[in-house]
This record gives sequence, structure tokens and C-alpha cells, in this order.
Amino acid sequence: MNADQIIEIFKNKFGSDEARIYAAPGRINLIGEHTDYNGGFVFPGAVTQGIMAAIRANGTNEVRLYAADVDEYGTYMADDPEGPAQRHFRYVYGVGRELMEKGVEVKGFDAVYAGDVPLGAGMSSSAALSCCFAYALTDLFGSLDKFSKMDLAKAGQATEHKYIGVNCGIMDQFASMHGREGSLMRLDCRSGEFRYYPWNPKGYRLMLINSCVKHELVGSPYNDRRRSCEHVAQLAGVETLRDCTWEQLEAIRQQAGEEDYRRARYVLGEADRVQAVCDALERDDYKMVGKQMYLTHKGLSEDYEVSCEELDFLVEEAQKNGVTGARIMGGGFGGCCICLIEEQKYCEFADYIQKAYKARFDTECKIIDVEIGNGARRVR
Ligand code: GLA
Repeated sequence: MNADQIIEIFKNKFGSDEARIYAAPGRINLIGEHTDYNGGFVFPGAVTQGIMAAIRANGTNEVRLYAADVDEYGTYMADDPEGPAQRHFRYVYGVGRELMEKGVEVKGFDAVYAGDVPLGAGMSSSAALSCCFAYALTDLFGSLDKFSKMDLAKAGQATEHKYIGVNCGIMDQFASMHGREGSLMRLDCRSGEFRYYPWNPKGYRLMLINSCVKHELVGSPYNDRRRSCEHVAQLAGVETLRDCTWEQLEAIRQQAGEEDYRRARYVLGEADRVQAVCDALERDDYKMVGKQMYLTHKGLSEDYEVSCEELDFLVEEAQKNGVTGARIMGGGFGGCCICLIEEQKYCEFADYIQKAYKARFDTECKIIDVEIGNGARRVR
């Protein structure tokens, strides 16, 4: 979907082409999974796929939304205390409410939006949606100068917490707001400090394999993982697992119980792996980066228990076929496998894995080429 197409739909729906256009992307994450809500580090980058919206203030208090991809239309009052029932409209509604709390006078508007981030792929289509509207509504009804990108990212995160029921960390919204073409970002989720890392791995590429399955039952297993981490942190007497040492973790193992212990063990291990990847990137040591990715997958699968048969299969096949690194990406329970692969192996492996997956599960997986793109912006 490009700007002309979205304006065309806007014109058909609302009878005018006088609308602004905004966009915000989904994301990938090289390493640092389930570390954000533990005060740790993440290593995401925005992708070129995202959500695009055409929007204009309509001079009333009514919001009129058309989600073009699913052909769904809905309305609600901007200050309605309940908001719409449709999950995807709740992102737009929630973000509007959050901005109001920050002093933006959000009123009625007409909007059409569409996207090309595959849903349920672990690429954060929902952060793309909330960040696109966080940016657009602030620009339309307030002033972007008064808010940092992190403020807007936090409005998106609060929307997930309060209006959707997923107690997510800040990674996805951070990446969607701050993305920069050609660069990954390392974010310290405790301090909010971050650094851009130009991503130019000579001889290597990133590949996403979308398993096209999603096993998660609305947010609860995710929240459950987070609760386990908070439980262990509390027992260890630290604010988040970021501050928990291996010795502290071992000391409370009995008390924590085996399940929470293993989950925390994954998180501590992941902190070490992020550090190892940062060091390896300084030396252009992509073999080491890949090795850490496989270790992350093992931890996510065995200790954190957020993988599934389909993703374990993809990662195993990657390893057998000499792919440098591979792991499940994002929250888990399906979605994408992210691979770091030598350029010359890319096409052959892409071909092979699609056939192997089809033969094993009788369903298609999809190869997604990764290009690192820009964060939320006004398109015109
Ligand atoms: C989801 C959440 C993020 C993060 C990842 C796992 O994408 O929205 O905050 O916790 O899962 O790394």
C-alpha cells in the first residue's frame, strides 16, 4: 500500500483527499528477547513494512476509522470512557486516550489505514499501528516538539497494558518510533539510553521465515512469563532481573520453584548473550553472533517455553543446513524465525526450507527479506 492508494481509499470513504499521511514500521530483533520488561538490553531495528494512515481532523468529537486490509469500518467518540470493542480499533482509541492524558487535545478525526506487516508474525504489527497513530494524533492535535519519541513510544506501550491487556515491554514501540534506515539499535531498557549500530554485515544477510502459525491465547502466556520474572526478582530482592546475579538466582532456586527458576535462568543468560553479540559486532565476528542466536533459541524453547514445534523445526533445519544463526523472534508461540545467513546460501536455503516445511506440516511458510527502515514519520 502506498500513499496514493491510501488517499484514493480515503477519498472514496470520506469524500475528500485532504488528509495527511503518516507511517510507522514493524520491527525485527537481532538478540535480547524478553529482556525489555526485565530492565535489560534489546537489539531491534525497524523494517520497511509497516502501517500507513491517511487522517484528517473532522471538526466533531467522533472518530471514524476504516481498516482497509480487513474492510472494517467503525466509529466511537474520542472521549468515550469505554471505547470500541474491535481489538485493532482499540489501539487507535487507547493511544488517543493516552495522549489526552499527556495534554494533547485529541478530537474527532477520519482515518483510513492499511499495512503490510504480517499479523501474528512477531514483527509487531500492533506497535506499528499504535505508533503510527501516536505520531499522527500528536501532530494533528498537539505538537510533536513537546514530546520525545520515547514519550510517544510509552503511550503505545501503555495502550497495550491498559486497553489490550498485554503487559509488554518497550522494545516494539521504541523500535517503531526510533528506527533508522540501515541501522539496528541497542536499547538499555532500564535507562532508556540507546545507540545506533549501522548494520552492514559483509557477506551475510538477515532472513525471516514466517511460520504462519500463532498458538498464543490472548496475551496470557506472555503476562505469565512476566509474572514469573517479577516473582524471582522480588525473591532476590532486586527491582528487575537486570540486577539479579547468577549467585542470587541460585540462592533462591528452591523458593522460586523450578518453573520460575528456569524462566529467570533464561533471562540472565540472555543478558550475557546480548553482551557477547555486542562484543562480536565490534570485531565483525558474525559466526559468534549466530552462535548466540542458536543459544537464545534453545533458552526460549527449553527454559522460557515460548517456542513451538514449527519454530523448533525451522531452527533445527537452519542449523543442519549451515545457516550461521537462527532463533524464534518476538514474543513467541509461533511467528517468525530470524536467520543470519551467508549471502551465497540465501536463495538455496530459502528454497529448501519452504519445501521441507510444507512436507513436514502440510502448510506454507513464507520468506520475508529484511530491509532496515525508518521509524514513525509524516509521509506527506
Ligand atoms: C513482544 C513484546 C516486547 C518484548 C518481546 C519479547 O514483542 O511486545 O515488549 O517483550 O515480545 O522480546
